Amino acid sequence: MSIITDLTRMWLTRSPKPFTFTKEYDRFLPYGDCRGLGLYIHIPFCQSICRFCPYCKVVYRQDLCDRYVDALIREIHAVGGQYGGKKTVTSLYFGGGTPALAADRMKDILAAVGEHFLITEGIGVELHPDNVTVPTLRTLKDAGVTKISIGIQSFSGKYQSILGRDAIDSGAIARALAAVPFETVSMDFIFALPGQAFADLRADIDTAFAIGANHVAIYPFIDFAFTDSTIPAMPKKEKRALLDAITKYCLDRGYERNSIWTFSREKQARYSSMTRDNFLGFGCSATTLLRDQFKINTFSVEEYCRRIDEGDLPTALTIRFTLRQRMVYYLFWTAYSTRVDSRDFASFFGVPLKKMYGAELALARLLGFVTETDGVYEMTLRGAFYYHYYENFYTLAYIDKMWGILRKEAFPERIVL
Ligand SMILES: C[S@@+](CC[C@H](N)C(=O)[O-])C[C@H]1O[C@@H](n2cnc3c(N)ncnc32)[C@H](O)[C@@H]1O
Ligand code: SF4
Repeated sequence: MSIITDLTRMWLTRSPKPFTFTKEYDRFLPYGDCRGLGLYIHIPFCQSICRFCPYCKVVYRQDLCDRYVDALIREIHAVGGQYGGKKTVTSLYFGGGTPALAADRMKDILAAVGEHFLITEGIGVELHPDNVTVPTLRTLKDAGVTKISIGIQSFSGKYQSILGRDAIDSGAIARALAAVPFETVSMDFIFALPGQAFADLRADIDTAFAIGANHVAIYPFIDFAFTDSTIPAMPKKEKRALLDAITKYCLDRGYERNSIWTFSREKQARYSSMTRDNFLGFGCSATTLLRDQFKINTFSVEEYCRRIDEGDLPTALTIRFTLRQRMVYYLFWTAYSTRVDSRDFASFFGVPLKKMYGAELALARLLGFVTETDGVYEMTLRGAFYYHYYENFYTLAYIDKMWGILRKEAFPERIVL
């Protein structure tokens, strides 16, 4: 499997050079000139741990969470205070874990962010269904949150029990959402669970839009090697049929596909922390992507707090990209939005997309993966499936390996992918 990712990487980067991440870290992050910069904050606490979940998280304890948030605020000041004045950024997303477990500290965190950054496209928070109560939603809204994304996974008790999660009380969620509205209300679902059929997913999507969502994210189940999930993977053919059926259903209903996995019912509904050219990440496991480097913070809550106490940044690993590596990284994540605009590429890199990847784009058109109109490449249904398929390889070959190591070692010497 890793042969596929290795060969693709060598082909697209025009080099046998692997992606090498090392332990080095900088005190200064060169984000001053980055256009379209986004922010991400990770809160690594959950009330209980789901076996299938790959994210960086530990069981919630109030004292640990408070200590962590204090450290987080110091990290925000350390990075945000590098340049004088306020830097304009697009959006800020809180992910986890379960960020609403720190809802009472949200105002403090946002005050720290607001000292250094001017957010123009809103603030999003990921919620566990248990967080969807009127008091918690009010606390978040009063702090300035404009978008929420709720980890429903499935409205069916059968699939919740396969995932080891509690059944959803959709009536309670509907009432809380009606009482405290947000500009974007997204709901997360997991598909390709054993026995799951199109009718199950259609019911999930319909229920989501009926009880207050205006955006849905439908993720394929990924069996990460380092989790102790025992859920079997769905065969490829069945998965493809399911993905195509959901996509067609959403498009026929007039929902807009704004990324491989997400559909919105209203134009302004957007929830994506992934499709951005540059971002700064704060907190455990958060990543930072700049013009020519990528960084990932330590996964250890204790070591994170210790580094910050010592006055240093909590970076665990850094990769300094070659130009071609950065281009591949750019194209991979931009393709996640199902479209690549060659003008954006040219303005980011200062070279035409066709000059760098003309042959690959011609091949992708020939294979029916993309169509081109006026320099904008749009993924076809077929292209979206193969992107999904390749992303699965990538996730297992790269993310699985890196996160698997970072979960065990706070600051590994190097990782070669
Ligand atoms: C951090 S969680 C969302 C918020 C909250 N912690 C919760 O569980 O409801 C992010 C989302 O990732 C998705 N996810 C988690 N593990 C996954 C896996 N193994 N495969 C695919 N999607 C997964 C789920 O849809 C989940 O809602
Ligand atoms: S799925 Fe959500 S609640 Fe479950 S462990 Fe992962 S982050 Fe925590």
